[in-house]
Amino acid sequence: MSVRALAEQFPAAALLQGERVRDMAKLVVEGLHKLNGEAVIHGAKNSALPILAATILSGDVSEISNCPRLSDVAATQAILRHLGCRVEEGDGRVLVDSSGMCRSDIPDSLMREMRSSIVFLGAIAARTGQAQLSFPGGCELGPRPINLHLAALRRLGLEIEEERGRLNCRARGRLRGTAITLEQPSVGATENILMASATAQGTTVIVNAAREPEIVDLCAYLNACGARITGAGEGTVVIEGVDRLTGCRHEVIPDRIETVTYMAATAVTGGRVRLLRTDPDNIASVIPAFEEAGCRVEGTGEGSGSGGSLILEAPARLNRVKSVLTMPYPGFPTDAQAPIMAMTCTASGTSLFVETIFDSRYRHVDELSRMGARIKVEGRVAVVEGVERLSGAPVECTDLRGGAALVIAALAAEGETEIGELRHLDRGYEGLEAGLSGLGAAICRIGG
Ligand code: EPU
Repeated sequence: MSVRALAEQFPAAALLQGERVRDMAKLVVEGLHKLNGEAVIHGAKNSALPILAATILSGDVSEISNCPRLSDVAATQAILRHLGCRVEEGDGRVLVDSSGMCRSDIPDSLMREMRSSIVFLGAIAARTGQAQLSFPGGCELGPRPINLHLAALRRLGLEIEEERGRLNCRARGRLRGTAITLEQPSVGATENILMASATAQGTTVIVNAAREPEIVDLCAYLNACGARITGAGEGTVVIEGVDRLTGCRHEVIPDRIETVTYMAATAVTGGRVRLLRTDPDNIASVIPAFEEAGCRVEGTGEGSGSGGSLILEAPARLNRVKSVLTMPYPGFPTDAQAPIMAMTCTASGTSLFVETIFDSRYRHVDELSRMGARIKVEGRVAVVEGVERLSGAPVECTDLRGGAALVIAALAAEGETEIGELRHLDRGYEGLEAGLSGLGAAICRIGG
């Protein structure tokens, strides 16, 4: 049965209910359909999560729009509700009223659901003077230490005891601004410092701060709430602590990794796509990889936040991408490594990848190999020898971006690919199969 016929037979995503069933869901993709048309990019997951955590700082009401509907966003909302906030959602907007916040702990079960819940630490401590949450363990990308978060928060005056996997934190009075130099520009640590210092006494200076667009977005939200932060997006950020914040309305920036994912998905099929509500400026380091592969990329409305758009037109066969080195922003994003690797699997020539951010971010390689990709991994280096054609196979998502890589590879594969372990994909892509179907892909979700 063709994937299109299957989609008709199983029209609703929810055939059965419940988590166990959701884990059994699969995407079925029939490859070699050229993508063509327009797709709308959603709000950035990695902006929405810290901004939602930051809504507790004001004890007021904030309305966050362009918020993607993802399982990680749902997990963040569950934490907000647990803390005593009122949360309402609809039409891409999330309204958080944190006036009734009455707790300062996050249970282990909620911490385990989403590793990035650690960004609540600075916000809860700043709001309540204490915080109790569990140590987030490693994850599918390898060890995920939080030493930089903890050292920075200690410098701001938070006393932190680590005991049996729990972090018990207490501030003696208000947190105090200070100078903090990060050993490396950690995104999460920078976010925690921003949240903890926005209402601290005195001035905080972060040296070697992360410069990602999502950091700039968090600062824009905090400043709209009355914070006094300058230098967002630069290596040195200055936060003058204010006595209190108020709520505000804020629109989340477009998701740059979703943008790259749609670009790679189109490129691998030799198609043409126009992506709407995106910001081409934020993917400036990735566009050259597409151009090197032979694609024409045209961005419009650069710098205009979600008002921009981008056109990608691909040749019948892609060229190799000579080398990709992942780096902190404004370098090539680690989150785009797997999608671009999938794109090079069928390119002509050999592409080289060097992953410098995470220890274990090549787990998608074994799955791509099942589809006929020729990839060798040696430590942080992966060498992809492009093949004429991949072939469909049963594969499983190993992590969020690895899952996106499998979808991209499946679009370029002969025959049918069945992709399992979709909970990874659902953490970070809203309506991926609907978006790709709209562009002409033969893709459907079954069994969940
Ligand atoms: N690190 C430490 N100590 C720390 C913190 C980080 O050694 O205290 C190391 C990490 O182990 C890693 C590197 O520093 O090797 C970078 O980690 P960073 O803290 O910058 O990453 P993160 O905040 O945990 C965010 C995104 C990731 C994205 C990275 C890098 C969110 C929710 N997550 O993670 O997104 O890969 O920044 O850009 O914002 C994804 O969306 O698929 C994803 C994994």
